[in-house]
Amino acid sequence: MVDEYAVEIKGLTKKFGDFTAVDRIDLKVRRGEIFGFLGPNGAGKSTTIKMLCGLIMPSSGSGTVGGFDIWTEPEEIKMNIGYMSQRFSLYEELTVMENIDFFSGIYNVPRNKKKQRKAWVLNMAQIEEKKDHPVKTLAGGLKQRLALGCAILHEPPIIFLDEPTSGVDPLSRRNFWRLIEEMAGEGKTVFVTTHYMDEADNCHRLVLIHRGKIIAEGTPSELRSSYMKFDIAELLVDQPFVAMDILRDAGLEASLHGETVHVSLESYESCQDEIGRILKNAGLTIKGIEKVPPSLEDVFVTLVEGRE
Ligand SMILES: Nc1ncnc2c1ncn2[C@@H]1O[C@H](COP(=O)(O)OP(=O)(O)OP(=O)(O)O)[C@@H](O)[C@H]1O
Ligand SMILES: [Mg+2]
Repeated sequence: MVDEYAVEIKGLTKKFGDFTAVDRIDLKVRRGEIFGFLGPNGAGKSTTIKMLCGLIMPSSGSGTVGGFDIWTEPEEIKMNIGYMSQRFSLYEELTVMENIDFFSGIYNVPRNKKKQRKAWVLNMAQIEEKKDHPVKTLAGGLKQRLALGCAILHEPPIIFLDEPTSGVDPLSRRNFWRLIEEMAGEGKTVFVTTHYMDEADNCHRLVLIHRGKIIAEGTPSELRSSYMKFDIAELLVDQPFVAMDILRDAGLEASLHGETVHVSLESYESCQDEIGRILKNAGLTIKGIEKVPPSLEDVFVTLVEGRE
C-alpha cells in the first residue's frame, strides 16, 4: 500500500553539542502537497531538511520519507528525493552541460533515459543556448533553474528546496513558482523553505518553526485567521523607517510592509487616534491610515516577536 504521507516524522531532534537546533518536531506532509517550512534565520529549517534527506543523522526521533525509514534506509531515501541546497550545489567552473552530466551520473539516471532527461533540463531551465557556458557566467535566475533541473534529473517523487529563490529577481521567482506548481500538479511532493511571505501564500500548508520548535501550522488562510488575534493598522507616512522606530519606542508592535508601516493593535478603533498623536508629536504626518486584513507576514512577525 502506498503511504498517504510523503514525509512523516515524530520527535525529530538534532543537537550540536549542548545546543538543540531542532527540538522534537512532528511533521506530516501529504503526497502531492506543496509544503512550506518557515522560520527566522537559525530556526532549524536547513538542519531539518538535511536530516530528512539522509545527509545528517538525527540525535533522536523517528520517521519516514517516501515510506523509507530515516535511520535505516537513508540510501533508499536519497534515490527517491531531489534536494536543492540553500547554496545551489552547482560546479561554477564547469559548463551547464558538464554539470548536467555530472548530476545524471550521481543520480544514476539510466543510460536509456539520459539523453531525454538532459534535454528536458535544458528545456525546463530555458538554457539551451548557454549549454557550453561555465555556470559562473550565468545570471542568478538561470542558475537557480539549472540547480532545480539537476536536483530532479532522476525524477524523484519528493523534492526538497531550501530557500530556492533567495537572491533571484521577482520575475525569476514567479517563474520558479510556476515550475513548483507544475511539479505538484504532476503529483510530486514539494517541501520548500522561504523567507518570502508572498511565496508562502502559494503553499498548501505551512509550518512555522522558531528556535527548533514548531510554533504554528495550518493552511495560509487558517494561519491568518486563527493566529492573528490583533487588528492591523496600515499607515502611509513620509518616513516609514522613522515612524516604525517611533511606534516601537512607544511600545507598539510595528513592522515595515513595502512603503507602509503595519501596527498590530488590540483594537483598531480604540487605538487609531493614539497612533496619530504619537506620530504627530514626533513631527511626522500620516498620509493615510486604514484597517487591513492580516497578511502572512503580519502573522509571522507577530508570532515570532511574541516569542522573543
Ligand atoms: N554543524 C553545525 N554545528 C553547530 N551548529 C550548527 C550546525 N549547523 C547548524 N547549526 C546551528 O543550528 C541552528 C539552526 O541552523 P539552520 O541552518 O538549520 O537554520 P535555518 O532555519 O536554516 O536558518 P536560515 O534561514 O538562516 O537558513 C543555528 O543556530 C545554526 O548556527
Ligand atoms: Mg537554512
